[in-house]
Amino acid sequence: MSTAISFRNVTKVTTHVIQEMKNKGEKIAMLTAYDYSFARILDLTGIDVILVGDSASNVMAGHASTLPITLNEMIYHGSSVVRAVKRALVVVDLPFGTYQGNSKEALNSAIRIMKEAGADAVKLEGGKEIIESVDRILSAGIPVMGHLGLTPQSIHKFGTYVVRATSEEEAAKLLEDAHLLEKAGCFAIVLEKIPAKLGGIVTKALRIPIIGIGAGKDVDGQVLVLHDMLGITMEFSPRFLRRYHNLSEEIRGAVNTYIHDVKTLDFPNEKEQY
Ligand code: KIV
Repeated sequence: MSTAISFRNVTKVTTHVIQEMKNKGEKIAMLTAYDYSFARILDLTGIDVILVGDSASNVMAGHASTLPITLNEMIYHGSSVVRAVKRALVVVDLPFGTYQGNSKEALNSAIRIMKEAGADAVKLEGGKEIIESVDRILSAGIPVMGHLGLTPQSIHKFGTYVVRATSEEEAAKLLEDAHLLEKAGCFAIVLEKIPAKLGGIVTKALRIPIIGIGAGKDVDGQVLVLHDMLGITMEFSPRFLRRYHNLSEEIRGAVNTYIHDVKTLDFPNEKEQY
């Protein structure tokens, strides 16, 4: 197993760079971001891919699912991130209802994301059922990232967020969908919340990079929702989530100190006024 880190000096991560990373055995690190300030911090760390996920619907807008977010809202988040990023590959999610069942609408949505947000690529959820949309977007020269396994935009079809593709039949369909997306020309696929063994099988079977979120370690890279891994959102605790910080507690601590300082006339002091 390679633990190479040889792509840190790349000045701009492209779809070709992440393919090279898979070829050379370097893992791909991806996180979500939805605004300028966080995207700027992430880009300075040398993160490979920034996903402007439709999880913005949950973490930024407080909706219970990813369904309500609109194309205009995704363009707003995408353009904020793009303005901050120099190095990372920026992928923007096509939101629910803007690509399923109508490949012309899918192409128009993807074009708006590329033109108005300035994204490097788009991400779509699903396999065979959306392949016409994927083909049409790719035919315009727009890079597409697939998303299989738990696909949150289909939550009302499945009814739960439990682990996907645990049956042989579902696992076979997922592998078939992954092959279809690769054949169509997708540059990478996200696999969400599936058995680790299946994550490894798909990764070995496909030439393109496979990025997991709850898909085990035998994939080509990992993605997490930034607000979850930083401990800003505390109510969401799936098994696959590693929290790297408890930012919620730190922010509350800082704000409580500020409130105290204001109320006790400690802030502002002599040096903090004109
Ligand atoms: O919207 C999102 O944040 C995503 C990740 C969970 C992969 O699609």
